[in-house]
Amino acid sequence: MKINHTDLEDLLKKDLETCSKEHDLQQIKSKYLGKKGHVTILFSSLKDIPSEERKAFGSELNNLKQVITKLIDLKFVDIKRNREITQRLDLDTPARHHQFGSHHPISLVIRRIEKIFSNFGFETHEGPEIETEYYNFESLNIADNHPARDMHDTFYFDSNLLLRTHTSSVQIHAMENRSAPLRVLAPGRVYRCDSDPTHSPMFHQIEGLCVDTDISFSNLKWLLNDFIYKFFESKKIKTRFRPSYFPFTEPSAEMDVMFNGKWLEVLGCGMVHPNVLKNVNIDPKKYSGLAFGLGIERFAMLAYQIKDLRVFFENDINFLEQFENLRES
Ligand code: PHE
Repeated sequence: MKINHTDLEDLLKKDLETCSKEHDLQQIKSKYLGKKGHVTILFSSLKDIPSEERKAFGSELNNLKQVITKLIDLKFVDIKRNREITQRLDLDTPARHHQFGSHHPISLVIRRIEKIFSNFGFETHEGPEIETEYYNFESLNIADNHPARDMHDTFYFDSNLLLRTHTSSVQIHAMENRSAPLRVLAPGRVYRCDSDPTHSPMFHQIEGLCVDTDISFSNLKWLLNDFIYKFFESKKIKTRFRPSYFPFTEPSAEMDVMFNGKWLEVLGCGMVHPNVLKNVNIDPKKYSGLAFGLGIERFAMLAYQIKDLRVFFENDINFLEQFENLRES
């Protein structure tokens, strides 16, 4: 095949365009510059050219050879660089596994309860875990000789400071800070000298308090029943209120819920004792209040069918991972 030297550059460019492998480029190189390559053949045709034209044609061929050599060399560089990039980006590398964290079931239950009560206008109010005797006992009408004040039940730092034994102490802080009327929910850790398979020395409670004019025991019953229906997502669930005793409420009650044919105690509640209101300068003739306190672990055990209290505090990753999908609830 006779090829005109002026077309050779374009021909090469076309060949290079479709070439992406070193091996193919070698073949292209010998097609143009090899022993029987186009350029070599053109050079050997020099001798047939009339002598007066030979010099000009020769230098034209030299230029052409340089251009062609350069284009091929650049393509070699190009192919090498592409190979390095694809080697660095190993498309077969397995994707990295993203490990998401999850909320602890206790936190999930706190959020769920906060959400339900926020629809009734309750706001979260946090109080300190280290308390004085006054906030944990005295202001709540708990007498000096009450057994709960005993060293066997309460962790004392000294004769005055202690770890709160219930979130009821936050009732006092909330009423001191906000006065009446108010609706607050106080979640948090509480501590008692107690440790066995069903008791942990640290556990969680949520305290609820509503003080307003005309708050009655029927408001308390309606509120807590509605809360239980919403928490367990069933209106068919059976509840009952049993008379009980707490120094800071009068009357006092305990609420039971029926699970699998058995009554289970879920919370303590009552009407805020007039002495407690007096302690925070709220007039008990004008205002009345309802209060309740519940153990969060118990609600978490019922909500997620957990049998052993200790799993909440062992931080076993296999246990915690099961709550990953409940992150947003
Ligand atoms: N503080 C009580 C307890 O720890 C619960 C409670 C709170 C009872 C508020 C009545 C009113 O058992």
